[in-house]
Amino acid sequence: MLDDVFDELAGIRNEPVWRPMPDAVRNAWSDKLPRQGTEAEDVYRSYQATIAPYGVGNRHPQFLGWVHGGGSAIGVLADMLAAGLNANCGGRDHAPIACERQVIRWASEMLGMPPESSGLVLSGTSMANFVAILTARAAAFGEGIRRTGISGVQPVGYASAGAHMCVARAFDMAGLGADALRLIPNDADGALKLADLRARIAEDRALGFHPFVVIGTAGSVDIGAIDDLSGLAEICHQEHLWFHVDAAFGAIAMLSPALRLRFAGMDRADSVAFDFHKWAQVPYDAGGIVVRDADAHRAAFAREVAYLRRDARGLAAGEPWPVDLGPELSRGFRALKVWMTLKTYGADRIGRVAEQCCDLAQRLAALIDAEPLLERLAPVPLNIVCFSYRLGDNAMQAAIAADLQEAGAVVLSTTTIGGRTALRAAFVNHRTRREDTVAVVRAVLAAGAARLDRIESVPEKEPREVA
Ligand SMILES: Cc1ncc(COP(=O)(O)O)c(C=O)c1O
Repeated sequence: MLDDVFDELAGIRNEPVWRPMPDAVRNAWSDKLPRQGTEAEDVYRSYQATIAPYGVGNRHPQFLGWVHGGGSAIGVLADMLAAGLNANCGGRDHAPIACERQVIRWASEMLGMPPESSGLVLSGTSMANFVAILTARAAAFGEGIRRTGISGVQPVGYASAGAHMCVARAFDMAGLGADALRLIPNDADGALKLADLRARIAEDRALGFHPFVVIGTAGSVDIGAIDDLSGLAEICHQEHLWFHVDAAFGAIAMLSPALRLRFAGMDRADSVAFDFHKWAQVPYDAGGIVVRDADAHRAAFAREVAYLRRDARGLAAGEPWPVDLGPELSRGFRALKVWMTLKTYGADRIGRVAEQCCDLAQRLAALIDAEPLLERLAPVPLNIVCFSYRLGDNAMQAAIAADLQEAGAVVLSTTTIGGRTALRAAFVNHRTRREDTVAVVRAVLAAGAARLDRIESVPEKEPREVA
């Protein structure tokens, strides 16, 4: 199995980026519960036939859809070792938790946060944003809110209009309601307008709401925009608000001396959410949170119960336990693949991957700007390029993306920029090279031309094919 995985990784460039599941495979997922066992070799054969060829495709250098990391060989081995050890990292006193604390100290160093900051390795930034909102909520309104729920206050928070949907969902899951997250308009570069934020905070206070948190975005999901983090930190300081940063991919850019400058102010955050499974190339899933005030972090989650009693010695020693810092009790040893990745490649090299991805995005932007049939729809502050095929409407852009995906050619995703559907290329994978930017342009032009041919070949009186 290991040989096969490494062979696949070594030859990934020669494979289609993605393969749709054939009906026979799709329909094969209706087996009854297997009452008797099967030889492991046969189970592996089933895996090879029905799962391995039909993954997401994000290992491939021409996978530029959404914001997906490419993974690495050391991550494969780390996951195997973690499964072998089968540690439950919810608590207790053992080396896997020491390893996780080490990873969090490294993350604090990366972000410019104090070494005594608290934190957790989590499934990703969605979960990290949720932990941050719960921590900020308890810090602002007191631990009592954890028992009584919200009553007598109307908590509200603020983020850019370009914030990831998981921030609003965190408000929803925290019982605050998604509408309690005020989305503040952006400037032309996609960064939150500070003056609008100040005005909205004042307006909310005047109306009797209780502002408690501002969420800065360090690399927005649509275009990679970076908020003025120093400006946000200042407003939070003046207004006594918790300053959280969603740095899902921006955090790893802090490992590059050249990119780091763009994130000035991140080191003033009360908490930062980020992913290791994007630019750090750790296999899914791995993200994390760092919280400056360790006591505040613990106060948001810790709960005393007899069956999780702590002791000064033995396996029940070693406070705080991860269960005191987040919503999960049983949890796997995710930190191992992060630790092994950082040890194996070194933080500088991972920082260079982020730099390389941003260079490739600039290169693609330049190719698009030079191509009359393509139009760029947004600035490129980091690693994401949004553009469209000029001879097509919104539906045609989505059709081009789907055509390319189904053909196993470059994978792009789509988003909406100013009401227009954009093709979106996000450079996250360490395997992507300059020639892949040329491949994107060629593939989109060819797919666009093929669609136009098909539309024009329809006889006049017949209804036109909808792209
Ligand atoms: C800015 C931002 N925040 C949050 C997320 C969600 O992160 P995850 O998918 O790791 O939960 C993403 C994902 O792309 C993102 O780009």
